Parts: sequence; C-alpha cells; structure tokens
Amino acid sequence: MRKKTITGCLAVMLMLSVGSFTMAEDAMPKPDGDALYNYISKVSPYSKWSYWPDHEGMLEGRAPHAPQHKVFVNQQGIDSKKPPVQFGTIQVKENYSSDNELKAITVMYKIKDYNPKDGDWFWAKYSASGETQKAGKLKGCISCHATRVANDFVLVHEFK
Ligand code: HEC
Repeated sequence: MRKKTITGCLAVMLMLSVGSFTMAEDAMPKPDGDALYNYISKVSPYSKWSYWPDHEGMLEGRAPHAPQHKVFVNQQGIDSKKPPVQFGTIQVKENYSSDNELKAITVMYKIKDYNPKDGDWFWAKYSASGETQKAGKLKGCISCHATRVANDFVLVHEFK
C-alpha cells in the first residue's frame, strides 16, 4: 500500500516536471537578443511562418535595410486584424544583397509593458548566422518606424 502511494507520487511528480518543461519550451522568449534568436530559429522556426498577405516573398527594400528582403510574421501577427498588433507578435525581416545573399536579420517583437511609450516593441539585429549585433529599445529603429505609429510601427503591411 505504502509502496503504491510512493510510486503514485513519483508518477505525478514526473508528469508535473514534464508538463512544466513543455510549457517552458512553448513560452515566448524574454526581451533578450539571444533568447529571441533561439526562439525564432529553434523553438518556432520563422521560416515556417507566414508572410503578410500584402507583402509576400522576396521584395525590393529601401535604405537603410537591404536591396531585397523577405518579412515573416507569426500567427499572433496574422491574427491581428487592426493595430496595435497582439502581444507576442514577431516580425522577422531577412535582408538580402542584390545577388540574393542573406546579409542580416532584423526583428521586431511585441512584448506587453516592455516599452509602452514606443509601442512595446523589442528591436533586434542579427548577422546572417544569428549573432546578436544589437537588441533592445533601439533609438535608431524606433525613430524611423515611428513615422507610422498609427500602423503600430509596421511599415510593410497596411492594416485596413
Ligand atoms: C531609416 C529608416 C529605418 C530604420 C532606421 C530602420 N528601419 Fe526597419 N524598415 C524601414 C522600412 C522603410 C521598412 C519597409 C521595408 C523596406 O523598404 O525595406 C522597414 C521594415 C522593417 C521590418 C519589417 C516589418 C515592418 O515593420 O515593416 C522589420 C522587422 C524592421 N524594419 C526592423 C528594423 C530594426 C530592428 C531596425 C533597427 C536595427 C530598423 N528596422 C531600422 C525603415 C527603417
């Protein structure tokens, strides 16, 4: 009888720990460049996400970004029918040279209460191989994207 209870307890503990492990895997990343890259490359690879319906595939870009780009957006973004987008939205922009070489990855990640005065976006820039070059409340990124505050700082997609 006693033995059974202990085995039962162990089974429950095991289930709980497996459960919390899975939850940690699925949880959104904290506002940190490396944690965000791990999320978009391993936990939820952005190459499997969608394009905005009005911005699909490789398109021409404007300075200071690259000559060509692709912008991927996760389900939270796609589900956002009007600005501001849902918390947890991530947009990943692959920046390519004119001869189709991946040069850099720039990311916007919407986090509740992260930076309310500038739309709660976490900004990050990575090398083509994923090293964090800069991340956080990046003034340079904000100043330019803030030209479209009413569109929640998003430039490639028009909310209707
Ligand atoms: C001088 C203006 C400017 C600056 C500075 C800038 N961007 Fe952008 N960004 C743009 C424009 C314009 C687009 C639209 C796509 C294009 O033309 O390349 C864009 C598009 C994007 C997108 C695609 C989603 C969207 O909102 O349209 C991401 C992600 C992005 N930028 C991230 C960043 C990050 C991260 C930084 C800072 C490291 C940054 N940007 C700095 C002008 C800027």
